[in-house]
Amino acid sequence: MTTSVAFLSRQERFRSVPSTNDIVRSWLTEGTPEVCLAVADEQTAGRGRSGRSWVAPAGAALLLSLGFEPVYVPPERVWRVAAIVALAMADAGEEVAGLPMGMLKLKWPNDIVVNAPDVEAGVRKVAGVLGETEGAGTAGVKAVVGIGVNADWPRERFPSELADTMTSLREASRGRPVDAGELLDAFLTRLEPRLLGLRDGHFDVAGWHDRQITTGRQVRIDMPDGTAPLLRAVGVDGASGALLVEDAAGAERELLVGEVAQVRLVTGGRDTRADLRGVTR
Ligand code: BTN
Repeated sequence: MTTSVAFLSRQERFRSVPSTNDIVRSWLTEGTPEVCLAVADEQTAGRGRSGRSWVAPAGAALLLSLGFEPVYVPPERVWRVAAIVALAMADAGEEVAGLPMGMLKLKWPNDIVVNAPDVEAGVRKVAGVLGETEGAGTAGVKAVVGIGVNADWPRERFPSELADTMTSLREASRGRPVDAGELLDAFLTRLEPRLLGLRDGHFDVAGWHDRQITTGRQVRIDMPDGTAPLLRAVGVDGASGALLVEDAAGAERELLVGEVAQVRLVTGGRDTRADLRGVTR
């Protein structure tokens, strides 16, 4: 690891681990204070959201987890911890890959994606975030936020089943090599002020709104009960973290992260599984 960052209590780099989220959780459990950071070149049991697996070839991705003790945010705002990780990584990815500001979007809740007119889906996933929280609302609250970024992953090595739904910073910058160490440094530099802000009660609601790709788009929401309503995403709620959607009759409702299995963008009449990057494979 190249950076020494004051807000980190512990940082370790691993060649290969089952999951960096598990490493960091065990550190928090044994009493390591926030913020602790585990980075791995490779994971043998990487996890994605909704029980999916997360696989990336060694050297192609930046894989890391951060451990927080977010006693400074009320339980209904713990989602902001994962949001600052996604926002800091979007900022860092644009800088390190030389992308125009605002090119990296968030697909609610925390996927980092790019618009992709070359595919029917219209969007490809660059990174995914997995937040796991314990003890929300207690003095012992712990949050592990893991992020996997497709960094220096050339298109020729994309798994065929994901080739239409994923991309990497390298491909987004038309083949410019992306150094994972540089990306990590840029990310930590951007995370620190966002974290200090959160500790002081501030969150960049405007920046979070601006990055959302779903706003104004048709989405199909896969609900845990098997229903999949077609709705229009009208925004996000900076207080609850909810996705705001409207049905055909114009009735608005809020969807919280735990209430939704998956959000799919609907483009040109077809559903698009923009977060297939985390599918079991
Ligand atoms: C998603 O499904 O989009 C979330 C993917 C999260 C993957 C990262 S890689 C580092 C950390 N360790 C894991 O096991 N998962 C997260």
